[in-house]
Formats: sequence, C-alpha cells, structure tokens
Amino acid sequence: MGFELKGAVVIVTGASSGIGRATALALGRAGSRVVLAARRKDRLAAVAEEIRAAGGEALAIPTDVAEETGVRALVDATVARWGRIDVLVNNAGVGLLARVTATSPREFERLMAVNFFGAVYGILATLPLMLRQGSGHIVNVASVVGKRATPYRAAYAASKFALVGLSQALRMELLGTGVHVTCVCPIGTESEFHEQETNRLGVPGRRGPIQSAEHVARRIIRAIRRPRPEVHPYPPARLLFLADVVAPGLVDRLLVALSPKAR
Ligand SMILES: NC(=O)c1ccc[n+]([C@@H]2O[C@H](COP(=O)([O-])OP(=O)(O)OC[C@H]3O[C@@H](n4cnc5c(N)ncnc54)[C@H](OP(=O)(O)O)[C@@H]3O)[C@@H](O)[C@H]2O)c1
Repeated sequence: MGFELKGAVVIVTGASSGIGRATALALGRAGSRVVLAARRKDRLAAVAEEIRAAGGEALAIPTDVAEETGVRALVDATVARWGRIDVLVNNAGVGLLARVTATSPREFERLMAVNFFGAVYGILATLPLMLRQGSGHIVNVASVVGKRATPYRAAYAASKFALVGLSQALRMELLGTGVHVTCVCPIGTESEFHEQETNRLGVPGRRGPIQSAEHVARRIIRAIRRPRPEVHPYPPARLLFLADVVAPGLVDRLLVALSPKAR
C-alpha cells in the first residue's frame, strides 16, 4: 500500500519552478493538501491555481528559505490551516558556476544559506510536530554533486554535501520514531536552474545526461509513498560513487574531461 498521499499535508519549498513545481503538481493530482513556498509570489499563485483547477487543494505562501523567521511563519501558517504536517520537501536551491578563486565569501555564504540552512530551518520548525504526531517525512533534495563534487561547483557542492550529511545523521537519530528522512540526488535536470545561476566560466555550464523535472518528481513521490534513505533518479550515478571509493584520482580526471572548460 505505502503512505496515503490523499489528504496528506505536504510543504514543498522551491515550488515556483522546476522539480518543486512538478512535485507540487503531482501531489495535488494525488489529492494531497499542498503548501507551496518560494519567493516569487505570482509564480506560486499560478502553480496553486493549476492545482485547484485540477480539483486539488493548495496554499501558496511566499517565503525566502534563507530567512529563519520566514520559514517558521510558513510552518505556522500550514499548521493554522491544516493542523498537521505529513511531509516537508526541502527543495529550494540555487547554483553557482565559478572557480573557487572567483567565488566571494558572501557567495559561499549565500549558497549555504539557501541550500543548507533553508532545510535546517524547515527541519527545526517541523520536527517537534512530526515527533508529536508520531509520523512524518523530511525529503531533502540535494544533488549528485552532494555525493561527488565536480569542478567549478565548490560552493554548490559544499552546500549539498552539508545537506547529505545532515540527512544521514538525522535519519539515524529518527529511527523508530515514525519520522522518515530521504535524501534525493538528481543529476542535471531540465528546469530554470541553469539560467538562474551565476555562471562565471565564460562558457555554458550544462553538460552530460539530463533528466526531466517530472521524472525527478515521480521519484520523489515514490519515495514519499515508500520511504527510503536515498533516491538516485539517475541510477548509473551510483557507479560514479563506487568508483570514487576505489579510484578518486581517476574519477577526478574523468569529471575534468566531462566538465566545461572555463575560459
Ligand atoms: N537542475 C539541476 O540540474 C539540478 C540537479 C541536481 C539537483 N538540483 C536541485 O534541485 C532543486 C530544485 O532545482 P530546480 O532544478 O528545480 O531549479 P529551479 O527551476 O531554478 O527551481 C529552484 C526553486 O528554488 C526556489 N528558490 C531559490 N532560492 C530560494 C529562496 N531563497 N527561498 C525560497 N525559494 C527559493 C526558486 O523559487 P523563487 O526564485 O521563486 O524563490 C525555485 O522555485 C535545487 O535544490 C537544486 O539544487 C537541481
């Protein structure tokens, strides 16, 4: 059977586009009560309208996940409306393509603030309630780059490694509580991600295999229904992690060969 999506209260951050939007729409179709969070109000309202037009329930709450008070307000508004939270999908994220030496301290901080602390704030605001409920699910959307870094993505990789580490520690602490933790590690995905990110390489940054946001959303939904520790929407990526254990230098050379050449 698995977890019943119909009627479940699910918060999705970064729901205004890409993976978050696709996940929110799929949850809406499945009958979940979906809380949409991101900064762009008009985009959120459009996704909420799309869910309602298809017969679903949605609540749009403009939120900057880098602001702790904003994330707490998001959680409070959800509880005020629906009285519980079954799933928190920490999906909001931003990228940056630049050499380490071309990345400012503020940029390192900003990527941590959105990609890592955004999830931390959501988890800290939500977990006490989930523990009282005796059930819940935290889904953190990290990246394949959170398991194995690529060149010119140091700040991004660091933020995603942090998210993977947080997910691992938390899921062990929560064993037996009824609250699950899943970490999702997509490869390159069709979305607005690459247009939105600052690219200081002088060449396009996207390379290698690419999957659709809908495909990643389906994997997220499957994991919500049947919780698992990690989700790899592109299974061959696991081979890279295995190779990295035995031959990291070889993997370095492979990834450098496959990466864009910075001007
Ligand atoms: N696309 C890829 O190749 C790829 C690969 C692996 C992992 N991922 C991860 O997947 C997640 C979703 O990315 P995507 O590909 O769907 O990209 P996207 O289309 O650019 O979506 C990113 C979402 O995050 C939101 N966001 C950004 N900063 C935010 C902030 N400070 N507060 C609240 N929301 C914020 C954006 O909304 P607003 O701008 O409206 O705030 C948007 O809804 C990210 O965590 C990303 O790191 C992406």
